[in-house]
Amino acid sequence: MNDLAPLLTPEGRALLDEVRGTDPAQELAVATRLRRDHPADLVSAALGQARLRQRAVAKFGADAERMYFTPNGVEQSTRASVATYRARRFGELGVTSVADLCCGIGGDAIALARAGIRVLAVDRDPLTAAAARANAEALGLTGLIEVREADVTEVDVSAYDAVFVDPARRGGRGRIFDPEAYSPPLSWAAHMATTAPHAALKVAPGIPHEAVPDAAEAEWISDGGDVKEAVLWFGTEPGLVRATLLPGPRTLCSRGLPNPAVRPVGRFLYEPDGAVIRAHLVAEVAAELDGGLIDGTIAYVTADELRPTPYATAYEITDQLHFNIKKLKALLREREVGILTVKKRGSAVEPEELRKKVKPQGPNSATVFLTRVAGAPTMLIGHPAAA
Ligand SMILES: C[S@@+](CC[C@H](N)C(=O)[O-])C[C@H]1O[C@@H](n2cnc3c(N)ncnc32)[C@H](O)[C@@H]1O
Repeated sequence: MNDLAPLLTPEGRALLDEVRGTDPAQELAVATRLRRDHPADLVSAALGQARLRQRAVAKFGADAERMYFTPNGVEQSTRASVATYRARRFGELGVTSVADLCCGIGGDAIALARAGIRVLAVDRDPLTAAAARANAEALGLTGLIEVREADVTEVDVSAYDAVFVDPARRGGRGRIFDPEAYSPPLSWAAHMATTAPHAALKVAPGIPHEAVPDAAEAEWISDGGDVKEAVLWFGTEPGLVRATLLPGPRTLCSRGLPNPAVRPVGRFLYEPDGAVIRAHLVAEVAAELDGGLIDGTIAYVTADELRPTPYATAYEITDQLHFNIKKLKALLREREVGILTVKKRGSAVEPEELRKKVKPQGPNSATVFLTRVAGAPTMLIGHPAAA
């Protein structure tokens, strides 16, 4: 079914309630039973929607059960934690209305509206726009969200305090890495950004720093340690780079520090959060820790002292070995290590391969870092440092 309307009728809504939480293994039996009293295409649309809602719980929590999705819409939507953080930033900038250009099923529009911001939500795909409209209604936000089915390049945004653009970054062949291949292209979005007092453009976290326009602030965002996206802000502080860690939020800003010095491995090894690494702010974290790098090209910081920081995870290092699987195996056997966490940076060895070779056995746990120390392939063994 290429239309949401039947699911929004009283019969469709009742069916959606009935199939909520259906176990995939039971789908066929449920469908057969429901088809006795309802049209077959409505039953399969309801079951399909139930499946999408289950997938969306990871992003939208309990709201997912009341929302409407398309397969692409679930995939491409901003998770609520990130959208809520961004909406709060817009609010702090004094923004009261936003043109959300490329609204998808409304992940960002919902968070903006919940922050009290009036939203014009635009998407050119009819089914996606219908889902955004249904979501505004399902969540009681129609007073703040106007959904328009249109091409964003044809929309007048002059009446809004801010523009937000989340371009489509997936084509028929999967993810798109070139910002000019986004729909619409980054250069169009960057131009739109200059037409409003404030703007934010969501981009892939892998965007090269050289592609960030001079007028933009760049923010990399992680949630629970996973890097989710980068955002280019206009109307804030051009040239500033931030790493923001959710759920905090905790934000680290660039201070323009030079690369940290390389030094011998100390008692502690710090693994910076992915957002810090993507934002090229390892020097800022190293300065906070009074640490240095174990290698000029590797983003592990080492220091003699344990200092709590939200921006990196600390490990206490007990051993440093040249890369040698036999020696590692012997050491782990001697220590009775059965639970082995393998981390790597600057090594081609696959963690699973290593685990198979060393066959860890025993009641104790350890972490091994496969990396380079001053250019030499090295194994660092340790465990998470006590807080
Ligand atoms: C990444 S999704 C947006 C996700 C959204 N921020 C959310 O959280 O749900 C991108 C959307 O852009 C829409 N799109 C791409 N090019 C467009 C254009 N030129 N005009 C309008 N919509 C467009 C696609 O249909 C898609 O729904």
